[in-house]
This record gives sequence, C-alpha cells and structure tokens, in this order.
Amino acid sequence: MPDQSLFKITIDNITIEVPPGTSVLEAARKIGGEVTPPAMCYYSKLKGTGGKCRTCLVEVSKGSEKDPRPMPKLQASCRTAVMDGMEVKNITSVKVKEARAGVVEFLLINHPLDCPICDQAGECHLQDLSYEHGKEGTRYAFQRRTFEKHDIGPYIQLHMTRCILCYRCVYTADQLTNRRVHGVLDRGDHAEIATYIEKSLDNDFIGNVIDVCPVGALTDKTFRFKNRVWFLNPVDAHRDCPKCNGKVRLWYRGDEVYRVTARKDKWGEAEDWICNECRFEKKDTTDWIIEGPSKTDRHSVISQGHYVGLKMPEETIQKVMDGREPRLLLDIHKVSEVNKPDINLSLIEGPAHSDDFDSMS
Ligand code: SF4
Ligand code: FES
Repeated sequence: MPDQSLFKITIDNITIEVPPGTSVLEAARKIGGEVTPPAMCYYSKLKGTGGKCRTCLVEVSKGSEKDPRPMPKLQASCRTAVMDGMEVKNITSVKVKEARAGVVEFLLINHPLDCPICDQAGECHLQDLSYEHGKEGTRYAFQRRTFEKHDIGPYIQLHMTRCILCYRCVYTADQLTNRRVHGVLDRGDHAEIATYIEKSLDNDFIGNVIDVCPVGALTDKTFRFKNRVWFLNPVDAHRDCPKCNGKVRLWYRGDEVYRVTARKDKWGEAEDWICNECRFEKKDTTDWIIEGPSKTDRHSVISQGHYVGLKMPEETIQKVMDGREPRLLLDIHKVSEVNKPDINLSLIEGPAHSDDFDSMS
C-alpha cells in the first residue's frame, strides 16, 4: 500500500516519492544522473544555502494534484518544496536549457579565463557548468571587475576575481567557527568576499572554505601551483585526530602527499568537515592509516588513467618508427637543468620558482 505521508513528484518523466518538505533539487538527487540540476550555491551540509546562483532552475509544468496550474516562471529547485503530484522538467525543458545558458553567461561575465593556471581546474564546478551549458563567446564588452588584493592568512589564498558570490564560505564560517571574520562587503558589482579590516582567517576549521568553494576563489596555499589535480591519485585515509574525525582524502603523486582534503560525495560536497591540522600540517604518509584508493566519478578528469581493465588503443609508434626511439619524445631531465627528479616539489614553500631549484640543488 502506498505511503500516504509521502509526496509524489515526477521529474523528467521519472516518478518518486519523498517526504513533505523535501526540495525539488533533493528529490532529483534521489533519482540521480542527468535529471539532477546543477547547483553552484546550494550545499546540503550547510543550513540556509541556495537561492543565489540560479543554476538549478527548473520548469514546474504542474504545481500539484490539487492545483495543477504550471508555475509561470522557472523556479530555483533548491528553494522549491515538493508538492504532492508535482511535475517538473529539467533536461526535457527547452526553456530551462536556454535559461541555464544565460545564467552561465552571467556567471562568466567577470570570471577570468585563467583555468590553465588555476588550482581548481579539473574539479571546478563552473568549468563543468560552462562545458555543459556555456556558449563559446561572450557578448560582454565592458572591462571586467578587478579588486584590491586581500591577504587572508597563511593557509588560504583568495582570488576575488574568480568568486561567484555563492556565499557558501560565509555559511561555512558562520556554522563551523565560533566567530566569523569574513563576509560579503558592498553590494551589486562592488560586492566582494573580504575581511573588513585586513585579518587572517585562522580558526581551526576555516580550511573547509576551500572545499566548499565551487570555483578557484579560495585555494590551499600549501598546494598552490604544485600540481594539476588530474596527475594526483586520491586515496582515503584516517588518523586519530582530537579535533575532527580525521577521515580525509590524501592526494598522492608517487610517494608524495601533495594535499589533504575532505572526502567529497558524488555531488561534490564534503562528507565530513576536517580541521586545519589534518588539512595543512599532516602531509606525510606516516601520519595516516591508509584505507585505499578513493572512488572518483568515472567522468571526472581526476579519474584519468585510474581505471583498470580498460582497453587501450593499440600503440603504433614503435611500428611506425621501426623500433627506433622517436626524437620528439624526449626525457625532460636529460635536457633541462630545471625539474630535477630529486627535488621534492611538495616541500617547496609557495609556488615553485627557478630560484627554489637553485637553492635546493
Ligand atoms: S569565495 Fe568561493 S565559496 Fe566564497 S562566495 Fe566566492 S565562490 Fe562562493
Ligand atoms: S543552487 Fe539553487 S540557486 Fe544556486
């Protein structure tokens, strides 16, 4: 017998039942896959998030069983509660596709095109969103916003030009620390994430703002410019930590731990918050009990080359070269004084620079 206390909702022709009070976005996440709208500001682990970015817009083609009228405008699915008998269109709606392309265009108006040098590249939600819904050009003819640089402390780098003002980091600081010292200052196109008086963010749990930031506006200073995320192998590990539950993801290249992050679920959200000590101070394998390789989404660029049993295309170069070594493929260490294999990149303070290599060699 169907449960009377549950509400029925149909999203892109797939029907499920959810408890009253569930948002359309959460209902879509229960179905999973392409039916789930993207979300740049909503974060299920933080109270009050959502309603800022409009990437999760959907078309409500039937309000409910009792009032079947469609909603006249597209709705933010993270802020719309499910009604019994509701029908929603996401990928099946042309209006939604057009609106989402418009939202991406807006988000990119002031966003710099610096993916090649941005530490978030490869795990940036805006990058994925632009890839799926963006247009190839911009119609924006004005100068992009620039900001005064703010130093927010030894661990976290703020790149305000990349910020999309999703407010996730503000909610994180509000809900995880006892005294928030940063927020959104000013309004409109002057709005920026900053500390009012130059101040460092140094609470024990403030490092989590790095994980919640959907773009590269808040990045880890201890990892900056050290490596591309798709070259690293994520491994789940834990330690007995007195401050947090110590369950983390270590990012290895060879034997080196390049960075430590929270473990993320399939929606890109942190499973558990971790403390600054685990994140920034414990970068040695001996600090951790290794559980095993992390599961990454098959489509993620991070899973590049991590799959076993894949049929690789036949290697033809040896055949073509008749067994000779191709001249174009050279060993960089044989011809260059930089990038010496004995230099431990992850131990260099700040971004790697040619002087570091001189002083360490
Ligand atoms: S810094 Fe990142 S998390 Fe904070 S508001 Fe900007 S985009 Fe969102
Ligand atoms: S995720 Fe719904 S408005 Fe941002």
